[in-house]
Amino acid sequence: MAILPIVHYPEPVLLTVGKPVGEDEFGEELTRYVEDMFATMADAHGVGLAAPQVGLSKRLFVMDTPETDERARERHVLINPEIIHVEGEQNGDEGCLSFPGLYQTVRREMRVIARAQNIKGEQVEIDVQDLAARCILHETDHCDGIVFLDRMTPLKRQFAKRKIKTLQKTGKWN
Ligand code: NI
Repeated sequence: MAILPIVHYPEPVLLTVGKPVGEDEFGEELTRYVEDMFATMADAHGVGLAAPQVGLSKRLFVMDTPETDERARERHVLINPEIIHVEGEQNGDEGCLSFPGLYQTVRREMRVIARAQNIKGEQVEIDVQDLAARCILHETDHCDGIVFLDRMTPLKRQFAKRKIKTLQKTGKWN
């Protein structure tokens, strides 16, 4: 297993819409790549990691949102994800491995139903709440070239951009 380099904002791949994973792309190579993504995410102590964050402009992501109750743990790979239903609302702090050291409040929906393909190419549907819902929305955004900065209120985005500049100047961004 390999730890892949994580790219940081404003790397263009983070702002590009990912290409769908084709039917002919499923197989051993993709499976290995997804295992590398899981390892990279764990190594960086993240709960979600999308392919564009490791420089691959494709629609897929991994997630692992642990809970105190192990049965509530959501560890998945979602390939060609689609959000098919959202409801409710949650407000909470969000971070992103492509924005090291930046945390900001982002409003998201509370419940999400998503449809995707698993590593075997089978259609799956998952229905999650809270952190897992936040994670799916955040990572599906990455597949669409959208970063969490785009989901902040204009004022918070302004604060965040200033903080990024400071982090870049002090060499804490690369
Ligand atoms: Ni992110």
